[in-house]
Amino acid sequence: MSFSKHILVTGGAGFIGSHLVRRLVKNYPNYLIVNLDKLTYAGNLENLNDVASAPNYRFERADICDTAALQRIFSEYQITDVIHLAAESHVDRSIEGPMEFVLTNVVGTVNLLEAAKNHWNDSANHVFHHVSTDEVYGSLGDTGLFEESTAYDPRSPYSASKASSDHFVRAYYHTYGLPIKMSNCSNNYGSHHFPEKLIPLMIHNIIENKPLPIYGKGDNIRDWLWVEDHASAIDAIFHNGRIGESYNVGGLNEWTNIELVRFLCRLLDQKLDRTPGSAETLITYVTDRAGHDKRYAIDASKLETELGWKPSITFEEGLERTVDWYLANQDWVEKVTSGAYQAYYEKMYIGR
Ligand code: NAD
Ligand code: DAU
Repeated sequence: MSFSKHILVTGGAGFIGSHLVRRLVKNYPNYLIVNLDKLTYAGNLENLNDVASAPNYRFERADICDTAALQRIFSEYQITDVIHLAAESHVDRSIEGPMEFVLTNVVGTVNLLEAAKNHWNDSANHVFHHVSTDEVYGSLGDTGLFEESTAYDPRSPYSASKASSDHFVRAYYHTYGLPIKMSNCSNNYGSHHFPEKLIPLMIHNIIENKPLPIYGKGDNIRDWLWVEDHASAIDAIFHNGRIGESYNVGGLNEWTNIELVRFLCRLLDQKLDRTPGSAETLITYVTDRAGHDKRYAIDASKLETELGWKPSITFEEGLERTVDWYLANQDWVEKVTSGAYQAYYEKMYIGR
């Protein structure tokens, strides 16, 4: 069978990557989707059970820091395009140990850029789409939105590593003419989200009647987007975005952490048929995150105007779907939080 594109998706076994891979495999049977993932604690192949045997899907367990593996995979599959999501993604882990973030997010990204540059020495139309974060812009005050032209001001080891990777991606465009595209998205939520991040952690702890750790006063603001809407934005940018351009992705959906956690408490009290107000008693204010960014908020008007993208569902609807998924998939949570992750989880989230 011949395919019109051979797309290498990195980090496809992770949270956002698995939603993107599923979308591409199902919607584009004429594309070969090669999922390259190291399967760290955050990667789980079960996330892709429903597409694992599709004729246009392949999986390669590899580390983007392994240049020989990248060389082999680019040659073996004749890779025509890259959508790069593989990363260390959790801010708290980056504070505990920045070096893994430098290796995967910075060195790994440059390895991929090199592999693409070396293999794409023909006249075909290739795309290297780098998936990044709004955290590269730093922290907002009470007003204003991050625009594509906002100066970079990363403040955590995670965001510094992502900002560095963004700079390298742009450098490969300007210096070598590599056909890059970039997207910088706000906080995602949805199914298959590793339960160390705020929303899945809170859902899990409410179900288990465990403390709900709120950093600082809970007044930090995040701008939340349903993960499948992020996948649809990547699809739109990959296909129709302009080469060399960055697109901000977000849904104008700002919540303080405490408002959001209270919303989840009310929703889960209903779903679990518990006394109204019982989950809120689990809320526990804990030491703030070091260097905690105050507010993120995205202006996605470039993406909306140029490519006609819009979020497809409201936050309330998306949260209900997410909560329903976690309630129906407690075995998934059990699997991903056992093993190597467990020690870290106990240290960071129990009795904090
Ligand atoms: P995730 O942690 O859930 O998944 C990351 C995946 O990358 C995992 O499957 C992991 O096994 C893989 N990986 C890690 N190191 C690797 C390596 N060295 N080689 C190969 N694979 C490796 O992350 P996520 O939340 O799905 O984020 C995906 C991407 O989107 C990241 O680049 C992140 O910076 C970006 N992003 C995330 C959000 C968000 O809210 N989660 C928002 C904007 C941008
Ligand atoms: O903005 C995009 C970014 O969103 C992505 O680039 C990151 O990969 C992703 O992890 C996410 O980063 P955040 O740091 O914003 O997400 P997190 O879920 O870790 O935290 C959300 C907010 O909730 C933040 O203000 C810290 C707070 N928090 C988090 C946890 C885990 C708590 O108050 N308690 C917690 O236990």
